[in-house]
Amino acid sequence: MMTLEATEDIPYQRSFYVEGGNFSYAGIVSTSIKSILKQMDFPNDVVRKTALVSYESEINIVSYARKGVIKLTIFSDVIQIEAVDEGPGIPNIELAMQEGYSTADNKIREMGFGAGMGLCNIKHYSDYFDLTSEVGKGTSLKMVIRTH
Ligand SMILES: Nc1ncnc2c1ncn2[C@@H]1O[C@H](COP(=O)(O)OP(=O)(O)O)[C@@H](O)[C@H]1O
Ligand SMILES: [Mg+2]
Repeated sequence: MMTLEATEDIPYQRSFYVEGGNFSYAGIVSTSIKSILKQMDFPNDVVRKTALVSYESEINIVSYARKGVIKLTIFSDVIQIEAVDEGPGIPNIELAMQEGYSTADNKIREMGFGAGMGLCNIKHYSDYFDLTSEVGKGTSLKMVIRTH
């Protein structure tokens, strides 16, 4: 019985590539993640929170980084989203986390992004959130959402 449970515990995992600067596909990864979770019958609030943190991470990679990967891992009681990019990094994380702070240029703002609410909303909707960044190298985010 223990062996069977351990086998069933292998997490579901998928990785999605995100291309920096390509706004025509911006949102496609978070939409895919959302539909996977819906198909798996997770509660609506869990789907919404996970979709939101995925979407904001994806838009940030498209807006600021060269390229990145968003990894979805579903454990038995939590959903984990990791967003790892190669890009300029974030020099002042505390500042970047503040509501309304944005370095988005006019091109990004004209498309409706750059309100400066992404990172603080990610933190707010995650049950666990961690951000590490190295200037000139890239940024890594880890978000965990409880499923019940
Ligand atoms: N992946 C990233 N790489 C580099 N800089 C980032 C990244 N994500 C966020 N930032 C920086 O943090 C700021 C705040 O991000 P966010 O809260 O999502 O707001 P917005 O994207 O609307 O500016 C951005 O304007 C940008 O300067
Ligand atoms: Mg953002």
